[in-house]
Amino acid sequence: MNEKIIQKLISIAKSSTKNSYSPYSNYKVGAALLTKSEKIFTGTNIENASFPAGMCAERITVFKAVSEGLKDFEALAIYAEGKNYPFPCGICRQVIVEFCKDLPIIIAKSEKDFVIKNISELQPSIFEFEKSK
Ligand code: THU
Repeated sequence: MNEKIIQKLISIAKSSTKNSYSPYSNYKVGAALLTKSEKIFTGTNIENASFPAGMCAERITVFKAVSEGLKDFEALAIYAEGKNYPFPCGICRQVIVEFCKDLPIIIAKSEKDFVIKNISELQPSIFEFEKSK
C-alpha cells in the first residue's frame, strides 16, 4: 500500500479519536475507512453507562459506510494510543468480513508505530450463513 495513503488514513483515524465518548475506559479509538470509490468514512468508540450498549469505533465506521450505500472497501485504519496495538475485536472482525474478505487494516498506536494485517489473517476461518437472496 502507498505510504502516503497509509499516513493519511492514520492521521484521519487519530483525528476521529477527538470525538470518542469513552468516560468509562478512557480508551479513545478512531477509525478511517477508505472505499474503492475513494470516500473516507470515520468513526470512534461510543460507550454507555450500560456497558454492552457501547460500540466499537470500527463497527460504527463500517456501518456508516454501509448505511450510505458503500460496501467496497480498500483499506481501514484503526488508531488508539496505549501499550498495545489496537487490533480489532472479534465482533468487529466478523462485521468486516461480512462485506470484505480481503482488506488491509492499518493498526496504529501512534502515527509512526503501526502494523498492517489483512482481515484474512485476522479472521481466517469465517462464519458465513447462506443468504436467502
Ligand atoms: N474498542 C473499540 O473501539 N474497538 C475495538 O476493536 C476494541 C475495543 C473500544 C470499546 C470500548 O469503548 C473501549 O475500546 C474499551 O474496550
